[in-house]
Amino acid sequence: MTARYVAPMAFPRSRPRRLRRTPALRAAVRETTLRPAQLVLPIFVEEGLDGVGPDGAPASTPIDAMPGVSRWGIDGAVALARRAHDAGLGGVMLFGIPTVKDAEGSGAWADDGIVQQATRAIRRAAPDLIVGVDLCLCEYTDHGHCGLLDGHGGVQNDATLELLARTAVSQADAGAEVLYPSDMMDGRIGRIRDALDEAGHDRVVVVAHSAKLASAYYGPFREAAGSTPAFGDRRSYQMDPANGDEAVREALTDVDEGADVLMVKPAGPALDLVRRVKDATAMPVAAYQVSGEYSMIKAGAAAGYVDEDAVVMESLLAIRRAGADIVATYFALDVAERLAG
Ligand code: PBG
Ligand code: ZN
Repeated sequence: MTARYVAPMAFPRSRPRRLRRTPALRAAVRETTLRPAQLVLPIFVEEGLDGVGPDGAPASTPIDAMPGVSRWGIDGAVALARRAHDAGLGGVMLFGIPTVKDAEGSGAWADDGIVQQATRAIRRAAPDLIVGVDLCLCEYTDHGHCGLLDGHGGVQNDATLELLARTAVSQADAGAEVLYPSDMMDGRIGRIRDALDEAGHDRVVVVAHSAKLASAYYGPFREAAGSTPAFGDRRSYQMDPANGDEAVREALTDVDEGADVLMVKPAGPALDLVRRVKDATAMPVAAYQVSGEYSMIKAGAAAGYVDEDAVVMESLLAIRRAGADIVATYFALDVAERLAG
């Protein structure tokens, strides 16, 4: 809304501090809310990580660059998903780390793939929890790129779509209710949507990573998922972080192709894109507070430079205020449990 600031509103009649005087007044005019149902927790599930650790808890592999975040086996992922359910989160987003990778990333669409197994186990353990799955090939390819190589240092677009479609159907077959395509191939949303429909999965929700920037903030994630490209970078398929109009075009394309929700990623460094995508589409918008955003807050807090809880809350409120309906964040459980208690 644009309201003109007219003369009668001027000081001293106008005193914005009146509404800031007490906690009750501040609460009454607070514009942005943060509820657990708006938060999605990413979970890393590692194949072959079974049994319990020395402390009797399910086995896990800590991620050095992301203090407080680990890769879990199926049991650990199920336990985390139960907590997510009990905290009232708006879902989980699963990333699979397979033991074997190949040139095509065939682990991504294996019936007994790690993410498919984890999805089935979580659906059984927490039937009301929204189970979402990252849909990409880079965690499953031996070269770490998000699609098939073209043999000249690039990534093929159209041939990759076929594999993404296969992966989508396999994830939906396993019980995933939400798919998060994060590859940035052209035309993937339409191709995935068609494949889902043909397979009888027309109710599966697709959250398109519409504006996924080629971001340095993904650094810690690549350690977490073991998905650092073996050569080159992702700039021939992920968006140039310098572009805003292009983010809007990507989003409109994804709406046309059948996306249910549009995702902007990273979140904090792209708040303007969150707002522009929201305004241009009037669609539900999700934003992903990525690994680097998480790690920087953790590092700043560990050094004593900032107050972790306060900075986390402010960063998430900012993402919501920018226009995100849903925020994916590694802080989701912490925040939801704090809001509850
Ligand atoms: C890969 C993928 C990435 C993230 C999510 N899916 C990394 C990348 O593109 O290199 C990043 C998430 C994060 O940093 O938390 N398709
Ligand atoms: Zn990828």
